[in-house]
Amino acid sequence: MADLVLQNLTIKYGAVTAVDNLNIHVASGEFLTLLGPSGCGKSTSLFAVAGLNHATSGTIRVGDRVLFDGNERNTVPPEKRNIGLVFQSYALWPHKTVAENLAFPLVLRKLGRAERDERIKEALGLVEMLPYAERYPFELSGGQQQRVALARALVYRPPLLLLDEPLSNLDAKLRERARVWLRELQERLNVTTIYVTHDQAEALAVSDRIAVMSMGRMRQLGTPRDIYERPADSFVADFIGSSNFFDGTMIESGTDQARIRLADGTEITTPSGPSAKDGSVVVAIRPEKIEVVGQAGANTLKVAIEQRTYLGSVWQYAVRTGSIDFRMQTPSELKEDTVFVRLPKEHCAVFPDKPGAK
Ligand SMILES: Nc1ncnc2c1ncn2[C@@H]1O[C@H](COP(=O)(O)OP(=O)(O)OP(=O)(O)O)[C@@H](O)[C@H]1O
Ligand SMILES: [Mg+2]
Repeated sequence: MADLVLQNLTIKYGAVTAVDNLNIHVASGEFLTLLGPSGCGKSTSLFAVAGLNHATSGTIRVGDRVLFDGNERNTVPPEKRNIGLVFQSYALWPHKTVAENLAFPLVLRKLGRAERDERIKEALGLVEMLPYAERYPFELSGGQQQRVALARALVYRPPLLLLDEPLSNLDAKLRERARVWLRELQERLNVTTIYVTHDQAEALAVSDRIAVMSMGRMRQLGTPRDIYERPADSFVADFIGSSNFFDGTMIESGTDQARIRLADGTEITTPSGPSAKDGSVVVAIRPEKIEVVGQAGANTLKVAIEQRTYLGSVWQYAVRTGSIDFRMQTPSELKEDTVFVRLPKEHCAVFPDKPGAK
């Protein structure tokens, strides 16, 4: 068991800063996910931990062992890091059988034949692929190949497991089953894990904590609930789940609540939050948190329903009041053309700008 500490980790490729001053402490046995849009620096961070690329500065530590220290130009080579890695593409050797694929890292580590066989049996058992030991990768389905890739990463019992989109090639249903299975296996082995995905539903479902990244920077680090219910900025509010963003002006800001005037003139009460220099703000609220109410009142808008969409488990509506458009959801169908809706204070979040404004 081991904890993993990234301190001020920066990785530059020429003029591009792929990872910008990343600080994360992954606890022993923890399942931590790096989540963010394509190109935000997830794989680059993971590869630096594995030693497959060169960080520019900062430190990487596992337990009390320093793997990389930018100040001392001290780097432990990848094969000495004892880290299990599953790539975005599973990268099995096509001309080796499943068992031979697993044997390879053990041969590199100079394990004897008997111990190799025992470990291969154990690892294939863990991923329920023992009956397939003598098959070649092309004789397996995509999901089975991914399980073999995982077994190959686990076979030398690394204290640290790095998974780069390991379920990306599975169909939606299989992917949902695989993530439950993967999480159970990770808990059973108690292996410290960094998981990379750009799928936010997957991240929310499997992680102890999530680090949300954008353009090389970490925007927020927290439990799935923290990230979803208390997003640190409008980027996180928009990227995780979906949010409506209302333009407004700060009228009054107290310690635990604020008064905000929306673009149509309605005044609402929200939790306090930062405003831009000129007093402008955006109020974020998720479509499913908006409540339909019987009459006008505090934090209430009268809206016209412009479009209805049946999504199976909920109905979604595009609604409008004056110049404000937004989306809302209800569990059952609304028949009316106009309704009163309430923006519950506790579900509003206030930010100085919209996502992408920075
Ligand atoms: N070898 C390289 N040389 C130059 N730039 C690179 C190199 N590898 C990655 N980058 C750049 O660094 C940034 C981060 O890339 P990275 O592969 O970490 O993204 P990612 O978050 O894993 O994205 P995806 O979800 O698409 O896999 C990108 O802008 C990418 O173009
Ligand atoms: Mg990647």
